[in-house]
Amino acid sequence: MADFHRLTIDWYRQNKRDLPWRNTKNPYKIWLSEIILQQTRVDQGMNYYLKFIRNYPTIFDLANADEQEILNDWQGLGYYSRARNLHFTAKYIASELNGIFPNQFTEIIKLKGIGEYTASAIASFSFDLPYAVLDGNVYRVLSRVFDISTPIDSTEGKKEFQNLANELIDRENPAEYNQSIMEFGAMLCTPVNPNCEICPLTAKCLSFANNTIKERPLKEKKTKVRNRYFNFAIFKENDQILIEKRIAKDIWQHLYQFPLFETEEELNTENVNPFFQERTGLTPFYNSKPITHILSHQRIFAVFYIFDQFPKLKEENWISINKSTIDNYPLPRLIDRFLEEKNL
Ligand code: ADE
Repeated sequence: MADFHRLTIDWYRQNKRDLPWRNTKNPYKIWLSEIILQQTRVDQGMNYYLKFIRNYPTIFDLANADEQEILNDWQGLGYYSRARNLHFTAKYIASELNGIFPNQFTEIIKLKGIGEYTASAIASFSFDLPYAVLDGNVYRVLSRVFDISTPIDSTEGKKEFQNLANELIDRENPAEYNQSIMEFGAMLCTPVNPNCEICPLTAKCLSFANNTIKERPLKEKKTKVRNRYFNFAIFKENDQILIEKRIAKDIWQHLYQFPLFETEEELNTENVNPFFQERTGLTPFYNSKPITHILSHQRIFAVFYIFDQFPKLKEENWISINKSTIDNYPLPRLIDRFLEEKNL
């Protein structure tokens, strides 16, 4: 469609939000903003972005920081491997590339934690290279405007949408074009109740004409969600409590939690006391209500149990800390949510 980019860019110029990462060409800042924005919406992402820029103004500051400090600042965003990859890549660029961010797409995409989307965003926003971004917003806009029924999570769909996005990109002005199509998806062409009445593309939108807006974009698979049952044991003795570091390749790697007993099913009033007796020799004096915590592929049902002493036999990876210092440790949001409610 010949005037696709003119219409989206015109709309963008009049309606764009003033966001701090849009007023810079600094690839470090753009990279940081894009990794944060993969995790959260713009309003929440803004606070994290500003915090990271304040605490780590340059790539050297990020490279020289402690991983624990970075994870603490990332706390609440989830998907902590993203923060660890940020740190890894900052160290790599600082030590191997003299702190200079690569300026070619083929080099950018080699960096750990940077995929097709982020590489295109950095290449276009920072270096004005004509690489089309393809994120959830862009899939939605293109599938509607062109009424494309190929599933976006199929190999064929990914190719088809990438080819279309590459054809459409404004080669003179790739940075503004990419921002504008994402903004379009975020503000007008929203997943539910899109604003077709005021959309400048409605007259050309095939999906609007065919009344298929609600079915676009089409997905092949439903996301499979796994249920997990987490029983956290809070062992308290005087002012001390036990915590453990998560080391397995699983959610929340390198974060801290209370000693965890994961089960295949929820514990119930009959089996909970024998369960803990057998494993710790102790009986809890308190249990929280179950807390449901939703992640993208997992639904976690957590119950917190409190004990008034330490077990005789402690696991090797449990450490005893003063309970007032727990905030010095990076914690999953779920643990934080519990601590906001319950004073230990
Ligand atoms: N979401 C992802 N990247 C974005 C950006 N650069 N601006 C606004 N929202 C975004």
